[in-house]
Amino acid sequence: MGPIAVLTSGGDAPGMNAAIRSLVKVAASRGVRVLGVMEGYDGLIDGRFRELTVPAGGTPHGLAAHTEVDLMGNEGGTMLGSARSARFRTPEGRAAAAANLAAVDGLLVIGGNGSLTGAHLLARACETPIVGIPASIDNDVGCTATALGVDTALNTIVESCDRITDTARSHRRVFVIEVMGRQSGYLAMASAIAAGADGVLLRETGRTEAQIVASVTDLIRGSLSAERARRRVLIIKAEGVEIPCTRLVRMVQEALEPEIPNVEVRATVLGHLVRGGRPSYQDRMVAGRLALGAFSALAARHSDTMLAWMPPVPGGAPTDDPAVFEFPLEHVLRETEALLDGSSPVTQWRVKTLAQLEGVLGL
Ligand code: F6P
Repeated sequence: MGPIAVLTSGGDAPGMNAAIRSLVKVAASRGVRVLGVMEGYDGLIDGRFRELTVPAGGTPHGLAAHTEVDLMGNEGGTMLGSARSARFRTPEGRAAAAANLAAVDGLLVIGGNGSLTGAHLLARACETPIVGIPASIDNDVGCTATALGVDTALNTIVESCDRITDTARSHRRVFVIEVMGRQSGYLAMASAIAAGADGVLLRETGRTEAQIVASVTDLIRGSLSAERARRRVLIIKAEGVEIPCTRLVRMVQEALEPEIPNVEVRATVLGHLVRGGRPSYQDRMVAGRLALGAFSALAARHSDTMLAWMPPVPGGAPTDDPAVFEFPLEHVLRETEALLDGSSPVTQWRVKTLAQLEGVLGL
């Protein structure tokens, strides 16, 4: 097999470097060179490749991973750089990218929604096999239980909530914590359960601003009542809930002040803090196993597919790894759309679970 290429695209996610490392090591062990494409689809259009394998005597095929690949495997972000490429959205940009792929025998795309859509379009436009691995802290890619970065991001959020809880309990305060997830409330929901939050606000429930303010006000009123006397009230809000955190906090504070004088409601937006950091064990392990599946798929000249971790929906082809399944990208993108517009059973289950949690979280 000739050289293969790998690129990372879209928002970076912890675990991207671990996936690159695994792909390079597996390929080197089979005597296959790996080229890294710099800065996602932009780099592919410009033909910016760099060698990730190096000659190494004493190895079965005379190849090993470049030292930097080895070192970066434990780090967050992506050593190849990432971009959201405007040029790749044009037919000319995609034609240039496809032409540069003629030099390799396969391409692995590591990224989220937009990146996998790009992989699908490119796979249809060229002969070179192209497969994808889901990587997005938002967990908004269809057909996979998790994407790279989700576990690390959740660990960071939960630790941040624990730290804020120290201050909240000390001063008897209410905190609204906003976490990333422009289109998906998964991080908010999962972290609320793990951090023992009192409430969670998701875009998927479709509430109006007035309904959100009323429900948060009620929750705080109940938690701070003489009977409950909570010292900490923690509410996790997904970024996709459109009301800005500061506005929500001001409205709630104004509504509560007449009945609870000196109530302190504060907002913390965790933002990009959650996207960085060294990948957790789970993200590294999933990255390794998906990358191995991706190499095998490329070696078998599969194209236009994505390797998925423990799929929550049927339809994928089994691989040698019982946790890894291979789905046509078209299927993944359809399921992703359904995940985001609420028609997927997975989203419906999440919203239903949240409804059940509403009466439980604050107890
Ligand atoms: O795609 C993941 C994501 O983390 C979203 O939740 C968030 O809205 C977005 O990236 C932010 O992207 P950027 O870094 O381009 O502002």
